[in-house]
Amino acid sequence: MKFNIALVPGDGIGPEVVGAAVEVLEKVGEKFGHEFCFTTYPAGGAAIDQFGEPLPQTTIDGCLASDSVMLGAVGGPKWDHLSGDTRPEKALLGLRKVLGLYTNLRPAKIQPALADACVLRPDIAAKGVDLLIVRELTGGIYFGERGLDEDGQGAFDTERYSAAEIERVARRAFDAARKRGGHLTSIDKANVLETSRLWRRTVHKLGETEYPDVRLDDMLVDNAAMQLIRDPSFFDVIVTSNMFGDILSDEASQITGSIGLLASASLGETARGMYEPIHGSAPDIAGKDIANPIATILSAAMMLRYSFDLGEEADFIEKAVSDVLDEGWRTKDIKSPDAESWLSGSEMKEKILEQLDK
Ligand code: IPM
Ligand code: MG
Repeated sequence: MKFNIALVPGDGIGPEVVGAAVEVLEKVGEKFGHEFCFTTYPAGGAAIDQFGEPLPQTTIDGCLASDSVMLGAVGGPKWDHLSGDTRPEKALLGLRKVLGLYTNLRPAKIQPALADACVLRPDIAAKGVDLLIVRELTGGIYFGERGLDEDGQGAFDTERYSAAEIERVARRAFDAARKRGGHLTSIDKANVLETSRLWRRTVHKLGETEYPDVRLDDMLVDNAAMQLIRDPSFFDVIVTSNMFGDILSDEASQITGSIGLLASASLGETARGMYEPIHGSAPDIAGKDIANPIATILSAAMMLRYSFDLGEEADFIEKAVSDVLDEGWRTKDIKSPDAESWLSGSEMKEKILEQLDK
């Protein structure tokens, strides 16, 4: 089959890790007889420098015309003085919005070979962690009204959710829980926020009417932050708002050993999704060939699974990555105390390509 993929490499380490994922997809295409056609589009700081805006219309049109989008990362200190919609992050938020990608799947799993890189106590790490954060991605405080007082001495951001927005992402989370361990934890701040109380009511109503077989519980976000460190094996699927999901998914990444390992899929109503590593642009290590390409390679696997319905090919990539880790290969971001030497980003990519050839 033939698939058109829009590449949005962005800034910092984005182009390096997207380049690695492209090579992996090409290899998988050769092996399984698929044709992946790639077109690259500017976004983020790179687009600001070249075109004076973070999300040019050509990028929006190209992504809308594609079968799926692969994004690297956006942002960096060079553009930190910019404000509001002129910032590089506007590219990411704008693409999520125009593509209608309201569900963000962020799986976090301890690979057995990396148990020693987990920051938790060994007895807790040994219990294993395999959770999926389902983050609402096109609403909440990220997209609410905001402003700065004229004198610059006050500012506000607003969190707004409709029941319909909550219900559609919750449905995705319930579906995922059904296919996994049958347990969904809805995370909110219902003891303070009105949006959270609506969130909780809406999720429960949906659970009672359509998913009585899924075990549903609630947790306040502060308690959830604690539980993730105390014993993350409690969680199976988490569903939460845009901002809480942003924070909890970075926390969860550290449990797995490195943020350089965590992939994500952003999905809407059509098969077209956007796939990106959850790490940022890491400008401090850009161009040094240190960045771990695994999170982006695993994001490519998610693209095959969720957008193209190529589950076998996705498994093939995921297995190659875990085999390489099982063999003991590490990049610098993976904090295994026993590692004696580290691979560069391109060496790690080569190891994975070799594994795919075996
Ligand atoms: C993420 C990132 C983005 C977000 C930033 C870069 C705007 O942190 O994808 O988690 O907050 O959503
Ligand atoms: Mg984040």
